[in-house]
Amino acid sequence: MFDSNNYQEVRKPLLDAQTLPPHCYTEQVFFEKEKQRLFAGGWHFVGREDELAEPGSVLVVETMVGSALVCCDQSGHIHGYINACRHRGTKLREKSGHCRQLTCPYHAWSYGLDGQLRSAPGMAGVNNFELEDYPLKSVRLESFGGFLFINFNIDALALAEWIGDLPDVMRSHQLSDLRCVKRINFTIEANWKFLIENALEAYHTGTVHRSTLGAQDSESVDTRGHWDALYVLSDETKSIATLPGENQGFGFIEGLNEKARRGTWFTVIYPCTQIVFSQDCVWWLDFKPVNVSRTKLTIGACFPSDTIALPDFHGRVAPYYERWTEATAEDNAIAEAQQRGHQAGLRSAGRFTGTEHCVHQLDNWVLDRVLD
Ligand code: FES
Ligand SMILES: [Fe+2]
Repeated sequence: MFDSNNYQEVRKPLLDAQTLPPHCYTEQVFFEKEKQRLFAGGWHFVGREDELAEPGSVLVVETMVGSALVCCDQSGHIHGYINACRHRGTKLREKSGHCRQLTCPYHAWSYGLDGQLRSAPGMAGVNNFELEDYPLKSVRLESFGGFLFINFNIDALALAEWIGDLPDVMRSHQLSDLRCVKRINFTIEANWKFLIENALEAYHTGTVHRSTLGAQDSESVDTRGHWDALYVLSDETKSIATLPGENQGFGFIEGLNEKARRGTWFTVIYPCTQIVFSQDCVWWLDFKPVNVSRTKLTIGACFPSDTIALPDFHGRVAPYYERWTEATAEDNAIAEAQQRGHQAGLRSAGRFTGTEHCVHQLDNWVLDRVLD
């Protein structure tokens, strides 16, 4: 399965190339290899710093390679820890929320949000045991423009190097001024690559989103770093973050540059974080693979602080939520149909149109890493 001779057809230039063979989407063995080679040392999306602005806030981040806690301590510092107790390894928390300390549900060892072990009942008299020798184990935590990521591998490439020129391209969106106002969750019965491939082409928009978004015009983007993007053109009066025909959009983000005023970047930070930069808002799609045929997705909706402060914000934001919920449900349903098609016994690969270059690129990026 991992012999590069079996993938020569995917390696060809786009118009000669075949798609990835079906087993890449259906075989758990292939998924396990992706786990080791793409995800174990990869950057996993957490959320926004502004979601952790209050001391005591905690986000639980479940990834295919581990669970982490990202929290804000009493002095306002954000930390990332492995979500496990130092006594006998119990998972500390299942859900995001607020707390004053992290107390283990098993024997009540308790940790400050700065990670220090504060009490360990019954440990008095144990030889060579000091509380300060057993803090929570940290994970790498890095961010750009308020977007937080963790990495379980201490030697991983820095996030800034991973994403290359993405922060520069999006600089005029004033990323640090964004606030996340809502999360929407989905579980999709499809391999993660179907979802990311779909995020990287606009070929499907006229059919899958026929009655919502409609067809979209897109251009490819030259990128430096492990990210890619489709740039979707729109007129300069309204972003595409609400459905066509909706006229109640918010004003554009102050200070957008020329290009940012004319379109929307649908980016994918490899392997599977999508952040969409539009004229009036930014939204993310955080895909978390669970197994070879199941993926969890969280959408996060971010607006500039001035927009959120508008007295009628809550009423006016409704069409945005509607667009994200409806269009995402359409993408999810088509990915599930693709998964079912692959499980129906399909044994041969397909072909690409000239507009699916980013899909071809992603597939080859995966092969570069998983093949022997
Ligand atoms: S495992 Fe956490 S206190 Fe025992
Ligand atoms: Fe779509």
